[in-house]
Amino acid sequence: MKNNISSIKKSIYLLQKNECIGVPTETVYGLAANAYSDTATSRIFKLKKRPKKNPLIVHYYDMKDLKNDCYINKNLKKLYEKLCPGPITFVLKLKKKSKISKNVTNNKKTLAVRFPKHFLFRKLLKKLQFPLAAPSANISTGISPVTKQDVYEEFGNKIKFILDGGRAKIGLESTILDLSKNPRILRLGGLEIKKINKLLKMKLKYSIKLNNNIPGQSTLHYSPGIPIELDILEPKKNSAYILFKKRKNKNKNYFYLTKNNNMEEAGKNLYRTLRIIKKRKYKFISVEKFLYNGIGKVIKERLVKASKK
Ligand code: TXA
Ligand code: MG
Repeated sequence: MKNNISSIKKSIYLLQKNECIGVPTETVYGLAANAYSDTATSRIFKLKKRPKKNPLIVHYYDMKDLKNDCYINKNLKKLYEKLCPGPITFVLKLKKKSKISKNVTNNKKTLAVRFPKHFLFRKLLKKLQFPLAAPSANISTGISPVTKQDVYEEFGNKIKFILDGGRAKIGLESTILDLSKNPRILRLGGLEIKKINKLLKMKLKYSIKLNNNIPGQSTLHYSPGIPIELDILEPKKNSAYILFKKRKNKNKNYFYLTKNNNMEEAGKNLYRTLRIIKKRKYKFISVEKFLYNGIGKVIKERLVKASKK
């Protein structure tokens, strides 16, 4: 606990000086900076080697703070009440008087916002006078980090501090829902669409869209930089083979996503597994054919995107 207090203090100190730091969320780790500062947010793009046209998600403690920057609509209120804090990002209309840096939005009139659930990140947000812009803490197009160590592997000493919140519980990014016009799912993620549909009494659907010109739909996301093939029964010799659940026969090239046939556990392990495979310098990844239901749909979407490179 004492450790947490000094880590939060250090985080506040660095963020107030417009530095970027690594932060834990329930989805994946983020690379956070003051969303109101041009200096701080331009550092995020530089560190991540992220194209300027790709806007950032801004993280708030609660709705009260958000009101300074965005218009609050009925759908948002309904979902906020039941699902936040949690793994969902909303795209909203930006207020003219908002202090959000133009770097964050790429001069657009909308803003992506999220209320993260991790207790340490919430503690930090509560103490700050500004919201935090935070994309996933990986070099652009790479694998999102799920531990402090992963963030360190991405940026080394280029960032001054990583707030350690343990392993990310969900291990996949947030679901993105556009509420700036008719509701539309922009990215599958940690929160299932059927929960949103139930609350909004709608039938929103999502099919994998691959378009390098639309934010969030780029095929260059989540990529370990190694060719991936899905639905493989017999993997090529020397390729890493990702299996859904553990098998009795051992093989050093086999990597399983869950011990207990549990889809959430598989989701939590996906990025970690891809990172290990990359470290072991495999040249090819095969993925076993399995039924991608529930959060499994997100696993499939990430693998399909990673395989299109
Ligand atoms: O779980 C998450 O959402 C994590 C944690 C750190 O919060 N963040 C995350 O950020 O995944 P990032 O930058 O890696 O992905 C955000 C996606 C990008 O694909 C971006 O194009 C899209 O959100 N986005 C941001 N602002 C947008 C906007 N105004 N309209 C549409 N898409 C937007
Ligand atoms: Mg990302």
